[in-house]
Amino acid sequence: MKIIKAKDYTEMSRKAANIISAQVIMKPNCVLGLATGSSPLGIYTQLIDWYKKGDLDFSHTKSVNLDEYRGLSHDNEQSYYYFMNENFFKHINIAPANTYIPDGMEPDAAKACADHEAIIQELGGIDLQLLGLGNNGHIGFNEPGVAFEKETHCVNLTESTIQANSRFFKKIEDVPTQAYTMGIKTIMMAKKILIIVSGEGKANIVNKAFFGPVVPQVPASILQMHPDVTLVADAAALSKCPL
Ligand code: F6R
Repeated sequence: MKIIKAKDYTEMSRKAANIISAQVIMKPNCVLGLATGSSPLGIYTQLIDWYKKGDLDFSHTKSVNLDEYRGLSHDNEQSYYYFMNENFFKHINIAPANTYIPDGMEPDAAKACADHEAIIQELGGIDLQLLGLGNNGHIGFNEPGVAFEKETHCVNLTESTIQANSRFFKKIEDVPTQAYTMGIKTIMMAKKILIIVSGEGKANIVNKAFFGPVVPQVPASILQMHPDVTLVADAAALSKCPL
């Protein structure tokens, strides 16, 4: 694993955006695996800026997202569909038809997940998967204890993830309790992985995930086994790592 240390969130975002930008320049028709949450917002802002300056062209690029809440419609401001459009897609020239997010409105969970997995296969796999790290070590919505063999599947969110995500909702009862997520196997099949982490609050889990044993209780620890992972983190997030 390659570890790139940034001084703060802004520098982390710019360094990670550089890696994504290089991917798009080297392979314009690449498949980007994308994430939501607060961590990638700075990356999306930076990529939009470079696109507006004429340095990036997403017209041949495809994207697949990691996850989506079950039961939230596209126009629900908390859906990941809405998030991706508002924070990234509508500001760049990616074709909407080339962006794929698990269908949260598909009531048949098995179908929604199989469809997402089939799309990834049809696209030829993910060239570069962007990930954030959950406070409990989750990646996507793969919560502690998840089987590493899983492909895209429906999950019941843990209490800690519901708590963490409640900051985006008016009240905690509004936070969905289930989501469709790429599984660990799906994520591990990506050719390259870029994981970003910022802030002291995640310092313990970064240390556990990347310097501790590979165990399902810390889902991100499996990334130690991937042949091409880059961790871009700020100094605060890396403060408890033996570097
Ligand atoms: C988002 C996702 C989650 C987040 C993680 C970190 O698509 O799958 O695993 O990456 O919860 O979230 P933030 O960045 O908000 O701390």
